[in-house]
Amino acid sequence: MISVCFVCLGNICRSPMAELVFKKMVKEKGLENSFRVTSCGTEAEEGCSVYHNAKLTLERHNVEGNHIARQLTKSDIINNDYILVMDSANLSDVLRLCSGALGEKVYKLTAFTSRPRDVSDPWYTRDFEKAYSDIYEGCERFLDYLILEHSAALNYDKRH
Ligand code: 4NP
Repeated sequence: MISVCFVCLGNICRSPMAELVFKKMVKEKGLENSFRVTSCGTEAEEGCSVYHNAKLTLERHNVEGNHIARQLTKSDIINNDYILVMDSANLSDVLRLCSGALGEKVYKLTAFTSRPRDVSDPWYTRDFEKAYSDIYEGCERFLDYLILEHSAALNYDKRH
């Protein structure tokens, strides 16, 4: 079981989009039983559903599901194998919660792409398609990385 927690600021736009996109990709590879996928916010809009425009964007791309915003705690960092943040501000906020080797679990989502960068923040740009596209690319490359890194655990070679 590989546990992944996506993190942004409010946990109503970028990280729930990443959670739902990644869940869909994992399912399409038949790996849903090998993953636990969640998302949290460093200053979460606790209890809120996915922001309307983010939800509409997911629906346009046939990504289903919902999420209720939740505040990131140190336990989330301890209890997940990978923490994927959306931008540099998230990265420094999350690293502030880390002690010892916990910081080694924290990556920017786009770190696995050929062009590491911040995921475009649709709260300010209002461009939810651009955010979706950054998130999609990041999730795709991150899953490729995990399949290589954990091929034995995922029993991937035998089934494909
Ligand atoms: P998210 O977007 O971090 O991608 O969920 C935001 C949501 C709310 C705010 C900022 C970003 N806000 O300032 O309220």
